[in-house]
Amino acid sequence: MFEVAGKRVLVTGSTQGIGRAVAAAFAAAGASVWIHGSRKEKTEKASESIGAGTRAAWADLSEAGCAHRLYEKTGDVDILILNASVQYRKAWDAVTAEEFDTQLHVNLKSSLELIQKYVPAMQAQGWGRIITIGSVQQFVPHKDMVIYAASKSALYALVRNLAKQLAPCGITVNNVAPGAMATPRNADVVRNPDYLAKVLAGIPAGYMGAEHDCNGACFLLASEEGRYITGANLCIDGGMSL
Ligand SMILES: NC(=O)c1ccc[n+]([C@@H]2O[C@H](COP(=O)([O-])OP(=O)(O)OC[C@H]3O[C@@H](n4cnc5c(N)ncnc54)[C@H](OP(=O)(O)O)[C@@H]3O)[C@@H](O)[C@H]2O)c1
Repeated sequence: MFEVAGKRVLVTGSTQGIGRAVAAAFAAAGASVWIHGSRKEKTEKASESIGAGTRAAWADLSEAGCAHRLYEKTGDVDILILNASVQYRKAWDAVTAEEFDTQLHVNLKSSLELIQKYVPAMQAQGWGRIITIGSVQQFVPHKDMVIYAASKSALYALVRNLAKQLAPCGITVNNVAPGAMATPRNADVVRNPDYLAKVLAGIPAGYMGAEHDCNGACFLLASEEGRYITGANLCIDGGMSL
């Protein structure tokens, strides 16, 4: 069950954190995986450290033309996992136009542009999987991440819309929404015991997720067992969104 061996996979933002865990698990299961990050050196290093079954492709997803450059490097894939994102922690009335643009560009615009690049081959072969990594903030926004939360809600709207349009071509489109996960992104803030206690108080399960806790959902949605699931949102959050 949950077979992905032989599939060509791109996981954006897989130099660290959740993306790296998913990419490493898919490579270990026999998939051919593109590791992606914004910079050459770090991406190559991540690919080398994961090892067999991976190759490195880098492109800064905040830049114009990024989807084209990434597609040129990887060629077509069977499974596209859109995981990279940018998140600025700031009060709503302090967000700058540049910070707004960067978060929307990386989290939403580049997702559409990448889907536009990779879907034609999926359509031609009558099989494809697109998984976006959203956030619990689609439902429970954090007061200091107003634009990040908005970008993730918009991303899920995109998922539902495209899921309906691409289902007749054998392509599923789904969203995985993590809660508070222990990754390099939030390592600094959760080192503060008061902040950590506040985070844990909002998680019914009582603990933060690990980097690998989204792997199972991705295997389900990417494999044949997930063929009848599309347009779905799967929360991986220990109950945080309830
Ligand atoms: N951690 C959580 O608690 C949490 C909660 C809810 C949702 N999520 C979502 O889960 C996903 C992964 O989160 P994470 O915590 O694992 O993130 P992370 O540790 O911050 O890693 C982010 C990844 O995205 C890449 N990236 C960032 N900006 C980029 C850009 N401009 N161009 C290309 N790549 C870029 C980074 O690559 P480089 O280092 O090479 O730039 C890195 O590989 C994200 O979509 C995040 O929003 C996380």
